[in-house]
Amino acid sequence: MNKVKIKSPANIAFIKYWGQKDKKLFLPYNDSFSMNLSSCYTILEIEKIKDPKIKKLYVKDYDKDDFEIKTDKSFEKVISFYNKAKKFLKVEKDYGFIIYSYNSFPKKAGIASSASFFSALALAFSWFFEKKLDQKNLSILARLSGSGSSCRSIPDGFSWWYKGKKSNESYAVSIAPPSYWDLVDLVLILNKEEKKVSSFEGHLMAETSGLFKYRLLSLEKRLKEIKKAFFKKDFTYFGYLLEEEAISMHSVMMTQKPPLFYWSGKTIEVIKKIIEERKKGLEGYFTIDAGENIHLICQKKDEEKFLNFLKNQKEALQIIKNYPEIGTKFI
Ligand code: DP6
Repeated sequence: MNKVKIKSPANIAFIKYWGQKDKKLFLPYNDSFSMNLSSCYTILEIEKIKDPKIKKLYVKDYDKDDFEIKTDKSFEKVISFYNKAKKFLKVEKDYGFIIYSYNSFPKKAGIASSASFFSALALAFSWFFEKKLDQKNLSILARLSGSGSSCRSIPDGFSWWYKGKKSNESYAVSIAPPSYWDLVDLVLILNKEEKKVSSFEGHLMAETSGLFKYRLLSLEKRLKEIKKAFFKKDFTYFGYLLEEEAISMHSVMMTQKPPLFYWSGKTIEVIKKIIEERKKGLEGYFTIDAGENIHLICQKKDEEKFLNFLKNQKEALQIIKNYPEIGTKFI
């Protein structure tokens, strides 16, 4: 077989990864917890180049006609990951191959497009180099891509990323399958443009925030509580913790040096409306990753009501409906 196709989901973090204790190995300061998203995914095809003299890596977008060899920053990340994967998998030889990628949602807008891309690429590299990895090692490999959250897209459903003290202890596992809880993530796209500061750059400055150490202290309790709420399916407390966590991470971002404001005026407007709706009895909670777009988490029984509510928001450019999803797989 010279070609394989892989599908991998993006994930939404309920408890977030922000800041790295080890910036080379991408070891986080804290555990994090997420849900894989059914409608936000990357499809990646990887093809070996038969001619042994060609030892190059090409990346091509499905949606572009011309065959473009990428040279931008994201491509540098692919090359660097290729070299790390070789080292991790103990591969000496170089080969040539082409990667075709398709994204079902806007890239680099804070919906973890690199998580779905790099988790798929981790599986692609292990196939390409003919090294079968178990899920733990696949997750470690994905983490080493530099898009740390990609390690949470490997397992099915709801993933818990153990921060670990060493590289071989820092990986994600599934704590529940997609069918465990019928949560819905309605992603409200307020802006489709690429964010100006990547999470990659943002992470590096997390420790410069005076709030960072307090965030880590508060996380100890929040991590325990959210696990309890999740296993009890206590949606009200779960939702409260979700919002507290998103605000905590963004407070650190906003107080970093230089300050990092991912939220826009539109983000705040929608947040206020979600809180208003809740007061009227419609129970949904917001969370936000590194971007201005909002993830509204609700239960399946309220999905239609929320869709109607969101469709009437002038700020919304697009709404993407997601259910819990399996992890990275060959298709
Ligand atoms: C705010 O370094 O994994 O989304 O490479 O952009 O996917 P990308 O980011 P990464 O940091 C993720 C930061 C976050 C929180 C989270 O997903 O845990």
